[in-house]
Amino acid sequence: MPRITGTYRTTEVGGERVRAFIPYPLPPREPALVVDGDLAALHRDAVGALEQLNVAGTMVPSPGWFIYGFVRKEAVISSQIEGTQATLQDVVLFEATRRTDRPADVEEVCNYVDTLAMVRQELADASGLPLCVRLLCRAHGRLMGGVRGAEKLPGEVRRSQNWIGGSRPGNARFMPPPADVVPEVLGDLERWLHEGDPLPPLVRAGIAHVQFETIHPFLDGNGRIGRLLVVILLERWGLLAAPLLYLSVAFKRHRQEYYDRLGAVRTDGDWEGWTGFFLRCVREAAEDGVSTARRLHTLIGGSRRLLTGHKDATLTAVRLFELLPDHPMVTLQSAAALLDTSSPTAGKTLDVLCRAGVLREVTGRRRDRVYAFQSYLDVLAEDTGVSGSE
Ligand SMILES: Nc1ncnc2c1ncn2[C@@H]1O[C@H](COP(=O)(O)OP(=O)(O)O)[C@@H](O)[C@H]1O
Ligand SMILES: [Mg+2]
Repeated sequence: MPRITGTYRTTEVGGERVRAFIPYPLPPREPALVVDGDLAALHRDAVGALEQLNVAGTMVPSPGWFIYGFVRKEAVISSQIEGTQATLQDVVLFEATRRTDRPADVEEVCNYVDTLAMVRQELADASGLPLCVRLLCRAHGRLMGGVRGAEKLPGEVRRSQNWIGGSRPGNARFMPPPADVVPEVLGDLERWLHEGDPLPPLVRAGIAHVQFETIHPFLDGNGRIGRLLVVILLERWGLLAAPLLYLSVAFKRHRQEYYDRLGAVRTDGDWEGWTGFFLRCVREAAEDGVSTARRLHTLIGGSRRLLTGHKDATLTAVRLFELLPDHPMVTLQSAAALLDTSSPTAGKTLDVLCRAGVLREVTGRRRDRVYAFQSYLDVLAEDTGVSGSE
């Protein structure tokens, strides 16, 4: 159903005259978006899948187990959507070794993990920032801070016209709003996030994502901040007990449709089409998460039995094992620190875990060795392979 979702303003960029799009404030109107019929069924299924994911998160003694892996999985895939080459293995390896020569791609993913933690902390802290444009800017500052982002104005809303797709403004797929209106349309979005709205919160989170991508307020990193916004909203609005949904797995699988649906809201006013797509992605990602959680749970149980049944098992070895789900790679130093013990004891403990078939040395070196809970990482790493170019 045709619906006008904004206006165009002709501007000049790099000597070319182009039409930049200025979205109307939310909610979708004339006609209003109504969640009934097929959309209502998709909504019910997506909410049901999120509930299952919440239950899956409580299957293990410490929810940190799944949060560790699932947050990193989301970070890797969300970064890959626009071309970052880092893999989950790279990220976990750098976290374990804390080497200083972190490649830019790995740094971007680690930055995403830090950013999510920072935003959640601000929101949880009574004296922290509320969910607002300033917080999103701060998130952007954290995400883009570091080697590659300096010229991307980390933490700042853009002051120039940008565009999506195409090599120059004239052949761009989409021209976001002119820089001078960005603060105003972002302010509208912020206000709508805090207003009561009769639409279901899950649907609102999807709509907020589109609006954010349409505004494209930053010079880079808009996709990642916009997807992070969804995860944050789902937690704030009570749909997720922890950031366990790695939604980007579905956006990456259906990347062309993802881009087309974002575009169709602007060109055809198709909020219904976007909402259906978004709800299917949430369901798909949540079901994927539940299945991964089940398999990790089984795998952890099996590995624990391997260890406790091993003739050389020690209490310290079991203690280290229980720490592995959120430290799936360790070094001699990190194991000693985690166990609060001496290097020789840590070394013996690592040896036991290797002999029991739980850990594996992955560098093949004699010095600076790294031990991985590889079977666990392999399950987590599914769908996080680098897919090459578009
Ligand atoms: N036609 C479109 N309309 C609005 N947003 C789009 C469109 N196509 C892609 N996008 C969004 O733009 C993002 C890319 O913007 P970018 O600033 O480079 O983000 P990042 O660097 O985090 O990937 C995509 O991930 C997607 O979310
Ligand atoms: Mg980018």
